[in-house]
Amino acid sequence: MESAAQMKSATQMGTLKTEQGGVVVLDFGGQYTQLIARRVREQQVFSAILPCTTALEAIRKLEPAGIILSGGPSSVYDKDAPKCDPAVLAMGIPVLGICYGMQWIAKNLGGKVEPAERREYGPARLDVEEAESDILANFPRTMKIWTSHGDNVLALPPGFHLTGKTTNAFAATEDPVRKIYAVQFHPEVNHTERGTEILRNFLFKVCKAEPKWSGAAFIEESVKAIRRKVGSHWAICGLSGGVDSTVAATLVHRAMGDRLTNIFVNTGLLRKNEFEHTLEMYRERLGLRVIGVDASERFLSKLKGVADPEQKRKIIGREFIAEFAKEAEKLQKGEAHGEIKFLVQGTLYPDVIESVSVKGPSATIKSHHNVGGLPDKMPFALVEPLRDLFKDEVRRIGKDLGLPQEILVKHPFPGPGLAVRLLGEITAESLVKLRESDAIVTEEIRRAGLYEKVWQAFAVLLPVRSVGVMGDGRTYGLTVAVRVVQSDDAMTADWVRLPGEVLERISTRIVNEVPGVTRVVYDVSSKPPSTIEWE
Ligand code: XMP
Repeated sequence: MESAAQMKSATQMGTLKTEQGGVVVLDFGGQYTQLIARRVREQQVFSAILPCTTALEAIRKLEPAGIILSGGPSSVYDKDAPKCDPAVLAMGIPVLGICYGMQWIAKNLGGKVEPAERREYGPARLDVEEAESDILANFPRTMKIWTSHGDNVLALPPGFHLTGKTTNAFAATEDPVRKIYAVQFHPEVNHTERGTEILRNFLFKVCKAEPKWSGAAFIEESVKAIRRKVGSHWAICGLSGGVDSTVAATLVHRAMGDRLTNIFVNTGLLRKNEFEHTLEMYRERLGLRVIGVDASERFLSKLKGVADPEQKRKIIGREFIAEFAKEAEKLQKGEAHGEIKFLVQGTLYPDVIESVSVKGPSATIKSHHNVGGLPDKMPFALVEPLRDLFKDEVRRIGKDLGLPQEILVKHPFPGPGLAVRLLGEITAESLVKLRESDAIVTEEIRRAGLYEKVWQAFAVLLPVRSVGVMGDGRTYGLTVAVRVVQSDDAMTADWVRLPGEVLERISTRIVNEVPGVTRVVYDVSSKPPSTIEWE
């Protein structure tokens, strides 16, 4: 069995060629750090988020064309204010400091930073100075910007000149000789006018980056990197029915063909017809080699009498690993099978970036919760071809790989499945009610043309009985809550204002078509303070 450290290092596939000459975003803990990285990638330039404490050597390894210092919630004068190695500013690589990034640059290079008399949050107006500027060249004299800071730069460091200010603060400055740029607002946020142009100017005029990060290049290079890594060994992959594991498996299949075997476990907690339908798609349309395991009875019996959500998650995770390990073992014993050395996972970039990266270099890699922490238990090295990608990028790669639209637009689904949408104890009967109600919600959302416009839409079965009347009789049935949310990344979410007619159709159909359900309610809570799932 490999140690966790060995396994971690085995996840690295080396820097791809399209990743060289990109941008390193050093994270001071800002709320927009991921957004900065995405905005850079939208310009077809690779970006990697690293903790601000990353050693220069590790930064250099990525051969970046530029470095962006993110914003952050601290004041540069806080006792444990996050810091970079100041030598970052002397590597000969252009730097753009954003917000806290600007204050940190100013403080380190001999400027003056102080708590602002008036903090600036939200919209503000930038007055662009007439001075020559690389990143604000040919901009209008005033423009709308988005700010969020409590400290102000009061004096610029030597070598810098002012290129923009707000009523209360110095807001943009640069030293074209050392190629250090700084803004005290957020060009990555849509509310900043011409923010994209500021980033483009930095990337292409200052850093001379090449726009070479594209889906096709990523696929080609990943396939080569996977081949180099796995050699002539064999691999397995756990499929969940969702887009991430499907894209990961398809990419690896392209690299190693049928030396990759996939395992798709029916936990009995999937959506209506999902197991059969997805299995057929994997095999017939994607040509993947997939073992389908129907373990629904086993999961149901293990979950008998369990009502606590965390307990449910634990049991499901454990059983999933047991099923997976059993199949892997059987496979390994098969005569014509080579030694399985690798486990493929659809881990994405947001799973990898440590949210508290300001506290130090990323040490923990979260296990992909869809497979319940498999790698810790099994003697395989990981292949994680999507660990540099955001969700929307995965969808685009999936499209370039020729995956069917239905899988690309499929809503996210929790690993524990319907178990966390069926409040309280799970029974075969309640699962039928939930599955039918959920299918109606999806059908009606699709019919209204909303499926691809919302993040998730589903039903939740509540163990709440209420009195009703149907025909001439009194009923005393269960309640279904309908949840439809909009979100970019599931970190925050807003409930969707569904048209009355759609709600009406969903409600009427559920009560008429699902025996035992007599009341339908619509969930009008956002995240935070609520979560997307009910359990
Ligand atoms: P919450 O409920 O935390 O959900 O707002 C955020 C997103 O994560 C999904 N989710 C899970 N996914 N295992 C998963 O693989 C889980 O235990 C789990 N819980 C929530 C949820 O569907 C939403 O997209």
